[in-house]
Amino acid sequence: MEAIGVTQVRQGGMDDLPWIRSSWPDAADVLERHLVGQQAGGQVVLVARNGSQAVGCVVIRWTGIDTPVARASFPEAPEAAHLFVRRESRNGGVGTALMRSAEQLVVARGFHQLVLAVGLENPGAARLYERLGYLRSGIVELSEYDYTDASGIDRHAVEWNECRVKEALIG
Ligand SMILES: CC(C)(COP(=O)(O)OP(=O)(O)OC[C@H]1O[C@@H](n2cnc3c(N)ncnc32)[C@H](O)[C@@H]1OP(=O)(O)O)[C@@H](O)C(=O)NCCC(=O)NCCS
Repeated sequence: MEAIGVTQVRQGGMDDLPWIRSSWPDAADVLERHLVGQQAGGQVVLVARNGSQAVGCVVIRWTGIDTPVARASFPEAPEAAHLFVRRESRNGGVGTALMRSAEQLVVARGFHQLVLAVGLENPGAARLYERLGYLRSGIVELSEYDYTDASGIDRHAVEWNECRVKEALIG
């Protein structure tokens, strides 16, 4: 898995939860949900670690993107979802390392495309994906998801996302 600076990325497991909970309590419940989903199959959770701290995560869904037009357009592609980096650790390459590791895993499993959805009101994330070679598809669809905000409050979001795709991944 990718290592940039002191950041290391590897697949998370339920036995990582005590460490995640102590080093990044704000994100622990969300990560636990992702890890429970991983146990059920169909997805892999990558966790970025910097020293003793959990600093980011991304989920790879082998079943692909779940909005209808994007799915019909890229039926064979896994999806990178829930990319999230701890606020104090941003702009240091953690998000890039997570996405590179996701790509390596996707290639290792025999896929050659990776798709993702990025909010129309999230230009920072769009820049990251642009730099990594994820092309705009022009497919914009409404997504709904649950998340926990920085105060630990569970929220429900509804947003317009554009699907982006990276073809011919090389690992
Ligand atoms: C979007 C997000 C995941 C990016 O994570 P990140 O760790 O900051 O990503 P990176 O550090 O790899 O890249 C971000 C910026 O830092 C810069 N950067 C990367 N490595 C760097 C380094 N070693 N030193 C200084 N700057 C660096 C990049 O050039 C990039 O610059 P840009 O703002 O011009 O694009 C993070 O901001 C986040 O968690 N946001 C909230 C959740 C979210 O929006 N997720 C995406 C959902 S689609």
